[in-house]
Amino acid sequence: MIIKAIKLTDFRNYKSCEITLSETMNVFVGKNAQGKTNLLESILYVSTTRSHRSVEDESLLREGAEVSRIMLRMSENGIDSDLTCMISKEGKRLFVQKQPVKKVSEFVGKLNAILFSPTDFELFEGSPRIRRRFMDMEIGKEVSGYVTLMNSYQKLLKERNLLLKEDKPDMDYLEVLTNQLIQISMKISKERRRFIAVMNSYLSNNYEVISGEKMPLEIHYFSLIEEKDSEASVRAKYEKCLERDLFTRQTNIGIHKDDFSFWMRGKDANEIASQGQKRMILLSCKAALIGYIRTISHRDAVLLLDDVLSELDEVRQKNLLHLIPEGIQTVITTTNIEEIRNILPAKTRIFEIEGGRIASIREV
Ligand SMILES: Nc1ncnc2c1ncn2[C@@H]1O[C@H](COP(=O)(O)OP(=O)(O)O)[C@@H](O)[C@H]1O
Ligand SMILES: [Mg+2]
Repeated sequence: MIIKAIKLTDFRNYKSCEITLSETMNVFVGKNAQGKTNLLESILYVSTTRSHRSVEDESLLREGAEVSRIMLRMSENGIDSDLTCMISKEGKRLFVQKQPVKKVSEFVGKLNAILFSPTDFELFEGSPRIRRRFMDMEIGKEVSGYVTLMNSYQKLLKERNLLLKEDKPDMDYLEVLTNQLIQISMKISKERRRFIAVMNSYLSNNYEVISGEKMPLEIHYFSLIEEKDSEASVRAKYEKCLERDLFTRQTNIGIHKDDFSFWMRGKDANEIASQGQKRMILLSCKAALIGYIRTISHRDAVLLLDDVLSELDEVRQKNLLHLIPEGIQTVITTTNIEEIRNILPAKTRIFEIEGGRIASIREV
């Protein structure tokens, strides 16, 4: 898939802006705080209906504006489609081909954009919730029904917690809820496990290509539900925890506590990796998503590289770009075009961004 054009109205520092992208390589160049990340954020918003900068939608509205609009024309297998997000204080409205879409789950993943960003470090430093959100978002964009499954899980979990807060919970009803929760959990866990397995099949190789260093690298997944578990064995875990749940008046176990971590050479990378190695692990991980998406749905994502190249030396910049298969559309931001000029392929389209406007466009 590729993005043909983007039109922003009152989004962040963009009053009104229209961009026609190259089908291959694009660069947004500009000084700090001009709107380069904002542009990538608008693309990512269409992909996930969320900002990657864990902020309220309201901060996306241009100062003083009531409504923000992102219109994006994409093309997949020769078929164009228009995706629109309208954001206001009251909430967001989504449109496909100008027709309103009722459920977020019907919109998420129409476009799949992968963002490489300095904020990726939160996968190391952040709470388990951030890692679960990453996993769920990436799966949700590709596996139909997954977003709905997650919503059902959250609803059931809330209901079970409310029941546990009652003075005398109806134990039959609790059992019904627990069984439903388990059934959904099994499906979610299976999808998360498949995600990790496919990611792992790419990670070490990606790391080697980027860094030139052989490094056994994998994601370890921690979950209540293990691979060998059956519905009955998971039920036994809930039964074992029942007394505690009743005492604390909440659900203490479940896939809402899942987590993962990166392991290199058989050890937790959080503990042994240098900052530079962590950076390359994150790049390897994001690049592995290209393979995940190809494996699951035989399509190509759009890659967004926000300020990540300037932190690599020229050899590694080249190595990273080598990992990107031919024909994948890429958008790079940088403050200094000279730092990456040598690695740009022919026909790169360069947009100069200045104060929420496109100041110039050229091709090299
Ligand atoms: N809601 C908003 N309304 C107007 N301007 C905004 C809004 N949010 C952010 N900005 C402005 O956008 C600029 C930051 O844009 P960003 O894309 O992060 O910069 P960079 O080019 O460094 O990536 C800042 O000047 C900031 O004041
Ligand atoms: Mg930026």
